[in-house]
Amino acid sequence: MLIICLLSQQLCCNSLDTITVDNPLKDDGRSFIVSSGGIFGLGFFSPGKSSTNRYVGIWYLFSNQTVVWVANRDNPVPDSSGVLSLDGTGNLVILSSSSGSDPVWSTNVNSTSGSGNQVSCQLLDTGNLKLVDGEEETVVWQSFDHPTDTWLPFMKLGLDRKTGLNRFITSWKSKDDPGTGEFSYQIDLISALPEMIFQQGITNRIWRTGPWMGRGWVGVPQMARTDFIFTTSFINSPDEVSVTYVMSNDSILTRVVANESGILERLTWKDSDRQWHAFWTSKTEECDQYNHCGAFGNCDPQMTQSSFKCICLPGFEPNSTTDWNTIRDGSDGCVRKKDRPVCGEADGFIKVEQAKSPDTRVARLNWNMGVEACREECLNNCTCTAYASAEDPDHCITWHEELLDIRLVQGGGQNLYVRVAAIELAEYLKSQRSVKVRHKQQMVYIIVIFTSIALAIGVLFMVYWFIIVKRRKERKIKERQILLTPADSSSIEPSTTGKPFEDFPFFELSTIVAATNNFSISNKLGQGGFGSVYKGCLKDGVEIAVKRLAKSSHQGIEEFKNEVSLIAKLQHRNLVRLLGCCVEHHEKVLVYEYLPNKGLDSFIFDEEKCSQLNWEKRYNIILGIAKGMVYLHQDSRLRIIHRDLKASNVLLDNELNPKISDFGMARIFKGNQNEANTIRVVGTIGYMPPEYAMGGLYSIRSDVFSFGVVLLEVISGRKNNSYYRENTINLIGHAWEKWKEGKTSDIIDSRMGDLWPNQEVLRCIHIGLLCVQEHAMDRPTMSEVVFMICKDMSLPSPKQPAFIFNGQDMNASDSSTSIKVNSINNLSITEIIAR
Ligand SMILES: *[C@@H]1O[C@H](CO)[C@@H](O)[C@H](O)[C@H]1NC(C)=O
Ligand SMILES: *[C@@H]1O[C@H](CO)[C@@H](O)[C@H](O)[C@H]1NC(C)=O
Ligand SMILES: *[C@@H]1O[C@H](CO)[C@@H](O)[C@H](O)[C@H]1NC(C)=O
Repeated sequence: MLIICLLSQQLCCNSLDTITVDNPLKDDGRSFIVSSGGIFGLGFFSPGKSSTNRYVGIWYLFSNQTVVWVANRDNPVPDSSGVLSLDGTGNLVILSSSSGSDPVWSTNVNSTSGSGNQVSCQLLDTGNLKLVDGEEETVVWQSFDHPTDTWLPFMKLGLDRKTGLNRFITSWKSKDDPGTGEFSYQIDLISALPEMIFQQGITNRIWRTGPWMGRGWVGVPQMARTDFIFTTSFINSPDEVSVTYVMSNDSILTRVVANESGILERLTWKDSDRQWHAFWTSKTEECDQYNHCGAFGNCDPQMTQSSFKCICLPGFEPNSTTDWNTIRDGSDGCVRKKDRPVCGEADGFIKVEQAKSPDTRVARLNWNMGVEACREECLNNCTCTAYASAEDPDHCITWHEELLDIRLVQGGGQNLYVRVAAIELAEYLKSQRSVKVRHKQQMVYIIVIFTSIALAIGVLFMVYWFIIVKRRKERKIKERQILLTPADSSSIEPSTTGKPFEDFPFFELSTIVAATNNFSISNKLGQGGFGSVYKGCLKDGVEIAVKRLAKSSHQGIEEFKNEVSLIAKLQHRNLVRLLGCCVEHHEKVLVYEYLPNKGLDSFIFDEEKCSQLNWEKRYNIILGIAKGMVYLHQDSRLRIIHRDLKASNVLLDNELNPKISDFGMARIFKGNQNEANTIRVVGTIGYMPPEYAMGGLYSIRSDVFSFGVVLLEVISGRKNNSYYRENTINLIGHAWEKWKEGKTSDIIDSRMGDLWPNQEVLRCIHIGLLCVQEHAMDRPTMSEVVFMICKDMSLPSPKQPAFIFNGQDMNASDSSTSIKVNSINNLSITEIIAR
């Protein structure tokens, strides 16, 4: 029983760390020696519970259970008569009453000085008990050279090649018996490449470190880490092959113990619970167990499919498939595949990466041999089954016959080249390629799948977008078509009913709103029959005139339909160009080119502006209007009757060229149809021919009438509806009377000045009177008008024009008027509603 009290240590034992000849250590149950730092103690003890055997040992003072060294482990003192002392020869001996003069245990060295007088004994803080001799303090003996079961830091294990001393640790026999047990941990001196072996007896290997690879053992990859708490040094020189370790942090206490259960364990002391904790053991992993998978087997700790970690090396198959596959016992190992014998010229090697190299007992080491030479070396010897090559220094290991105890070491190990038959290699390469190809294929699949998904999403998005946009478009077009299909479709050419708006520009309402500053008053150019006209400016700076149809005007919608469907097709220098339209949110908008000079009426009926209009300009305007009308009536693909030609519907551009606008009332005549009978009559009083105003009959000659009125207005500078002679006679009547009286110069606008070609002006008045004749068939066509204007030819005399007098209550001047014609019997009763 180990009974130590610190008090007694201080009071009665002199607390010495040395033993001298005069100062033996008696087994009095209280005395012991303490290292100078107070870490280790040396004295007699009895292990376990019942044993009365006394041993001399070294233990940690803070934990008296922890004996790290035993002197007389195989020769206990049966009683408490033991004395530890230095004898005359300078040896440390244990004597007891029963042993007589022969010591129970002795350091058994021959003192160098010849006499033991100069030898002293000291217990160090490393746990080493030293015998030093003489002035030079030559170490003649130390407990570290004779370890028991514990490997302490600074303690060297291994072989001193000069003295032949081999240091290794051996387990206790049992917890109660520190005698030499069967488990040992030592450097394997048989191997070509030294490694450490934990084994039972002398053959039964339990665990091996694998050869030293520069920074650590092949099988202990964590040793290569720089933050590993132990620093291990391995020396393999002609003098010695040895290994020591120190803690990188001195405050951590650690020891390696070969314990009697057959487990090698590294323990660290934890102050927090005052316990030793197993930091690592040789039984941590299944694959740690020596030769777990047998010869030519490979233990892979990462195998997750099953608890069975064994695989065969390339070119090998399980020795016993029953053991291997059914019992899941790999210890029988693998054998070379029957049909794949090696030892041919064409043999090859398959690389096994991160392998803990096989047991080196069957290996041969060749220094200064590179990889290629190593391969050749192995290939040239049929017994060679594998090779590994390492640099710094260059060396080559070849294994012969059985390959034992191979495992994979995650993040460690080395490349092991296993010899295989040529066919095996070929198959392997093929499978590797196919694996690569598979990987590639998988990558391709993944890429394809991802791209397809991306594409599909893109396509879906596009389709979605397309559908939405298309629907919206279709809805818009439908809306437009509904809006644009005239109620009286018989009067529309078939070609216009199909898809009339395909390449016709439609504007977004937002564009229009932005261009017109949200139809602001300041942008307003004027108020027409069907809505207001606004000046607008598109983003690209193009100026536009926007005709916004009155929302409430159902009537306007139909006019709008016509206007859009017709004007879209027309292009003539004397027609206002329609740039596009917009039908959105009950909003119906026409977009025209913008003409800064506004309407002809604002010139000819304006005191100041009309002075800009000399005869040449007026002639040009008349001719332009006539040409525009010819185009409408016969030159364009469609026969178009304007139905609302008037001065305010003729716009002037910068050079005062006339451009006919507002085709809102135009109707199309089919080729063989000269007249259309309409229910709703739209026009402007003063410009309407009698057959239209009274009977709702309209033909191209009705437009000629309106043209005649405009012509006379241009020449006279007066409105048709302005009053002459007691307010009963209009411009037509006035012109007719003056013409009859031969005073045509009275008709002419005096503001035109005197410089005008008399004949030409008279001719124009003549033409104007021909145009306003009462009977439509008397009036010339517009092309005849142009011809007459241009050519100096004899003209027929005009007959009495229509509407000489201002009508009953037709006091509404220049405004569009809706006239409902109710045909009752043969009489036409015309109801005129001025708006
Ligand atoms: C050494 O270990 C002690 C206790 O674990 C710790 O407190 C200390 O920080 C360590 N020192 C170094 C340098 O790692
Ligand atoms: C041997 O070591 C193992 C692992 O650390 C431990 O569980 C076991 O208790 C030890 N045996 C003895 C007798 O100390
Ligand atoms: C092949 O290797 C074995 C084992 O090391 C050795 O005994 C034998 O002599 C070698 N044979 C040749 C031809 O080198």
